[in-house]
Order: sequence, then structure tokens, then C-alpha cells
Amino acid sequence: MPKPRPIVIVANRLPVHRSGDRFVENAGGLVTALVPALKTRGGAWVGWSGSSRATTRPFKYENFRIQPVHISEAEIEGFYNQLSNRTLWPLYHDAIRTPEFDHSWWRPYVVVNHRFAKATAAVTPRNGLVWVHDYHLQLVPAMLRAMRPDVRIGFFLHVPFPPEELFAWLPWRERILEGLLGADVVGFQTQAAARNFSRAAREYSPAEGTDSELLWERRKVKVASYPISIDFNWFADAAATPEATREAALLRRRVGAGRKIFLSVDRLDYTKGIDLRLLAFEAMLKRRRSLANDCVFIQIASPSREPVHEYAQMRIRIEQLVGRINGEFSEPGRVSVHYFRRGFTREQLASYYRAADVMIVTPLRDGMNLVAKEFVATRSDYSGVLVLSEFAGAARELRQAIIVNPRNIEGMADAFEAALTLPKADARHRMAVLRTVVRRHDVFEWADEFLRALAG
Ligand code: ADP
Ligand code: G6P
Repeated sequence: MPKPRPIVIVANRLPVHRSGDRFVENAGGLVTALVPALKTRGGAWVGWSGSSRATTRPFKYENFRIQPVHISEAEIEGFYNQLSNRTLWPLYHDAIRTPEFDHSWWRPYVVVNHRFAKATAAVTPRNGLVWVHDYHLQLVPAMLRAMRPDVRIGFFLHVPFPPEELFAWLPWRERILEGLLGADVVGFQTQAAARNFSRAAREYSPAEGTDSELLWERRKVKVASYPISIDFNWFADAAATPEATREAALLRRRVGAGRKIFLSVDRLDYTKGIDLRLLAFEAMLKRRRSLANDCVFIQIASPSREPVHEYAQMRIRIEQLVGRINGEFSEPGRVSVHYFRRGFTREQLASYYRAADVMIVTPLRDGMNLVAKEFVATRSDYSGVLVLSEFAGAARELRQAIIVNPRNIEGMADAFEAALTLPKADARHRMAVLRTVVRRHDVFEWADEFLRALAG
């Protein structure tokens, strides 16, 4: 069998960070998926360290190269906080917050994308494979193609691609489309996102073709959906260890033996619908006060993008709601909502998933949502119920979840009650199907499938 070709991954974030004199892998789906591929194939990862002060000297990690890209303080503001996270992020998520379009942010976006393209061009072998990731780097494919016409370029968007009428708001829409069309394969989480992109490309760029293949500058661009997944076996195993079993039992005792645990785990982001699900929990307790004895809500929210105003606002809103619900329904030694504003290790998350009775995943819009898949992977005994927003990419695959509209507070409260009373046999059947879906399509298969398409 021929040796698989080396790959160059280009993503805003690097896969490792320094801890003392060691490098530690960052948690997250992308690292889980691609570091194993890089370890076997070799190649490089081009990315930003997350700080303007970090070194840009390349170094070797395992058998691949890490190529840090420098971003200055001023560029972090324009490129990351503003254009990426105040224009593109809200626009691509159904304009849940009004996107801002400020011309002074566009330039740093172009400059930083160009720097990524240059760094990538310098480390990619002849006829190499390059895989660019996510909304921060949408100009890289075309920039890289101009520098290195010999390489195959793939792009994967982890977030939704908005419907044409929203995308049309973007003052730089042609530039973004032409940036992405520089790739040979453009991948999305869902078919809807792939279709939105093809339609926008036909409408706002000279590209022609179908929803699955566009013609641009005498090249074919493949457009398809590749739903991302998780390392199923890792989560299944982590939740089954004696420590996880002990931790889960301890957690259940500490919140009050016999109480049903509702659990949510998110980055603290306004797209995740944290405030609305708290309102739904409150509505349920208002309807049936006795449920305050029988249920507890645990919300784990890791801080994210805090310099961005809309994130700071959402934090205040969540903290007010947690205070309000606890003020109304808690008793000494019996808290209604436990709120943890911090990141947990993956091992800790596995024990929490294991302890939960009802997992609440209710984003207003989400490219995929890995938390829903992680929860399913930990339920080896087929217990537990997943309540899932219809607006998460994961809802396309996880059809046996209880599907909700996160803007319908009373409807969500109904779904929470339904989850509590779901007959055991029904719950087990649903979980068995969900587990089969996630097991069959794990993150390694996702990466293989994309890389096969990219290799052509
Ligand atoms: P997003 O990519 O928008 O953050 P996903 O659900 O797709 O949403 O992925 C989030 C990833 O981050 C998951 O792997 C999840 O386990 C992890 N994560 C989310 N919240 C926390 C937290 N509080 N602590 C640790 N990891 C978290
Ligand atoms: C989402 C995005 C990723 C991003 C992650 C964390 O998953 O799709 O590209 O890395 O959120 O956000 P951050 O801004 O901390 O990188």
C-alpha cells in the first residue's frame, strides 16, 4: 500500500500549548481528529498560539512540524475579536446578534489571512495536501493557490454557512466567495450549508455549476457535507473507568441522592441558548413546584471570547437568571441550578455526562455540536435522554433525541417534563439508535473521508 501523503493543517488555533517545559495537546474536536492523522502521515500544523507574545519559531511535535503564525495585539482586535467574532460569527449563526460591518476590521482580516497563506506556502511539500479550517481563514485557499498552484487545497467550515439572503449582507461577500473557491474541496457540516454556499457562489461570484460542483477559473470545486464527529471509543472508555464511575456516583450524592440531573455543557456563547434553557427550567419549576425537590440543573459553561461585548452581556444575563431561579426555588442544602463558569477536563466531563439523567443541548444555531455526541458515547448502559435543538447540525443525524425549538420556552419545558417521564424501554431504544449512529461515524472516519476527497 502506498504511504499516505503528508498533510498541512491550517487552523486559527495551534494544537498544543506550552506548560512549563512541555507541550500539551489542546482539548477539542479538531485536535482529536487531526493529530493522529498527522502522527501517521507527517506534515505540519500552521496556526496561532492565542497570544501576541508567543514565539513564532517552528518546532517539532511528535513527527510533524508546528508553525506558529504571529498576530499582533492590534491584529487580534481587528482580525479575531472584531471581523471574525463580531461580523462573521453572528452573521453565520442566523444573525442571532446583529453583525457589525466595519471597514477598518477588513484590512487586518486580509493581512492575517495572507500571513497564514504565506506560512503555509513555505512549509508545504511539492504537490502536497493542505486542509484549511473555519471562518477565520476563508481567504487562505485562493491566496495559497496564487502562491502554490501545485498543491491540493481543502477547506472545511465548522460553523453554519448562512442562507443567501443573510450572506448578502456582507460587504466583502465576493472576496470571501473567491477566497473559498480557491480550494479544490469545500466541506460543510450539513447539506443545507453546502447548498447555501453553492447558491451564494452562483449568485455573487462568476462561478457556475451545481450544488455539488462549481466551475471557477477553469477548475472544478467539489462542494459537499462532511458532518464532523467525536472519538466515540475515547468517551465510552473514559466514562466506564472506575474513577469516572466513582466520580459520577459522588456527584449524584452531592446534588441530592434520587434527584434527576439535567446537564448542559457549552462554551459561554450567545449561540448556545443557555439563557433560554434556564428560562425553560424555571417555567417547568413554576408549573410544578414539587419538581424543585426532584430535579437539579447543572450548567457547565467555559469562558469564551470575553473581550467581545456580546459575550460579556450574555454572561451577565445567565448569572442573573441562575440567581433568580435559585432565589426562588433553592432550599438550604438543595440548590436548583449549579453553575460552573470554567473549563473542565475531558475526563471530568465524561463523569458528568455519565451522572446526568437528561442532557440539554439547545443552541439557537450550531454548525454541529459535539457535546451531544459526547454524551451519547458515554451511555454504554443505554440510560439517559438527550434533548436537542432542531437548529444544531447534530439534529440531522441524532433523530432519536427529543427535538426542541429553543425559542419555544413552554415547548422546551414540556420536553423537559417528557424527558423525565419517558418510559424506560423507549429511552433505551432511542439511546441504542443514537449510539449506533455516533459509533458508526466517528471523527477518524470524518477526517479520512475528507482527506480521500481532497487527494482526488
Ligand atoms: P463549539 O465548537 O461551538 O464550542 P461543540 O459542542 O461542537 O461547540 O464543541 C465544544 C467542545 O468543547 C466539546 O468537545 C466539549 O466537550 C468542549 N467543551 C465545551 N464546554 C466545555 C467546558 N466547560 N469544559 C471543557 N470542555 C468543554
Ligand atoms: C468554535 C469554532 C472554532 C473555535 C472554537 C473555540 O468551535 O468553530 O474555530 O476554535 O469555537 O473558539 P475560540 O474563539 O476560543 O477559538
